[in-house]
Amino acid sequence: MSKYWWKEDIGALPHLITETPGPRSRAMHSSSIRYIKGLSSQVKLFPVCFEKGYGITLTDVDGNKYLDFSSGIYVTSLGHCHPKVSEAVSYWAKNLMNAHDFTTPVKEKLLTKMAQILPGKLNAIQFYSDGTTAVEAAIRAARAITNKHEFISAFRDFHGKTLGAVSCAQMHRNSTYSYGATRAAGFYMVPRPDPYRPLWEKADGTIDTDSYIRFYEDFIKEGTVGNVAAFVLEPVQGWGGSVFPPDDFFPKLKKLCDKYKILLIDDEVLAGMGRTGEWLTLSHWGVMPDIVTLGKSFGNGFPVTAMVVSEENGKALEKISASSSYGGSPMACAAALASIEVIEEEDILQNVRLVGDYFLQRMENIKENHPIVGDVRGKGFLLGIELVKDKNTKEPFDEAGKLVYQKAFRKGLAWIPAGHILRMSPPLIMDEKYARLGMDIIEESIQEVENEFGYNQKSVKINFTEKIQR
Ligand SMILES: Cc1ncc(COP(=O)(O)O)c(C=O)c1O
Repeated sequence: MSKYWWKEDIGALPHLITETPGPRSRAMHSSSIRYIKGLSSQVKLFPVCFEKGYGITLTDVDGNKYLDFSSGIYVTSLGHCHPKVSEAVSYWAKNLMNAHDFTTPVKEKLLTKMAQILPGKLNAIQFYSDGTTAVEAAIRAARAITNKHEFISAFRDFHGKTLGAVSCAQMHRNSTYSYGATRAAGFYMVPRPDPYRPLWEKADGTIDTDSYIRFYEDFIKEGTVGNVAAFVLEPVQGWGGSVFPPDDFFPKLKKLCDKYKILLIDDEVLAGMGRTGEWLTLSHWGVMPDIVTLGKSFGNGFPVTAMVVSEENGKALEKISASSSYGGSPMACAAALASIEVIEEEDILQNVRLVGDYFLQRMENIKENHPIVGDVRGKGFLLGIELVKDKNTKEPFDEAGKLVYQKAFRKGLAWIPAGHILRMSPPLIMDEKYARLGMDIIEESIQEVENEFGYNQKSVKINFTEKIQR
């Protein structure tokens, strides 16, 4: 099978034959919302109804075909319905759907493969079926390993919606994620460095990582009862706005953790499995975590996640059960194994690095040319554009974010930004031609919104790519 399987019959893209969302989409959405409640802002703002995904495209019930810049929700990273993954799942759907946590041939193969690709000695593994339960397992594992019970995590990180996971995540008073009066006892939050909005700066105006670390050390001594089991952090804040830490942050944090015998739980549910051009995003900074969670891209659409601990701590996992109803089912293991094999066979990490360079350079260019683009950031295919009302005050521009989202979607770009952050997570198989097409649509939408809001800027000439024909 060619690695360009997704280009076969791709045709014109985007290919829109009705206004979007079209009449069938609207009718089905209206029918659904009589019963389903609490939908995300993205759905409310653009009530489309999809019925097919193939490679880098999504097709709605009106027959409109979109370029996918979301991978579902950072999930179908090897493209929708990658033939190898679909065949692997369907083989086990016909042969053995569930076997408790007994060994199966496909699980044995997956475990061996994971031990081979994960850095260092990260090879004590448990399987789960969503990211949240993998994070909960990581919390249990940290307690089992350290016999300590306190946890520190960071403002604006996201780790899931169950009590332990949400206690490590941002809990706004009105947050639909938590809907709780308080976080669980023993869970604390600290700020983490955001280079665009630094809390502590050096004399030269760059972010001062040392001050964050000093604050954490003080906090460990003064703000906890001295029983901190782990820091729980995303390597990059995904939902928090594609925020990348300064390069010296994780190396310094790990040193601090080691000094106080605190574990580092690296939640790679969103950023891991190749999205930034490494199996683990933390590897960009040469840091070995003690515990890792994997999800989303791990099964490329099939619900399978993992919690992995380094070998020296593996014994402690005997204290916490690996059993769950669906975790590690043959179908789940087949999806994860096939996904890893595809990443290797199709040299996906290299594609992510190459096309990722294009994305970054293009976003820098957009920042130069647009008064409402305050910051751009990305590694590989984990990307963000932050919209502001004024580049000096950096006031978030939510209204513009919503409009850019809707305009680009109407032009045929399926994506999932939120508020003033335009988050992008295209499938990792995408080549530069389609990367450019997506960025053209976004830049054109930004420009239209600037015009609507009366931004008086130098005229920007957008080289809007012709709709691509096969
Ligand atoms: C970093 C991170 N951890 C955990 C989760 C929770 O994963 P799930 O939605 O599969 O439970 C998410 C979901 O977006 C995430 O981004």
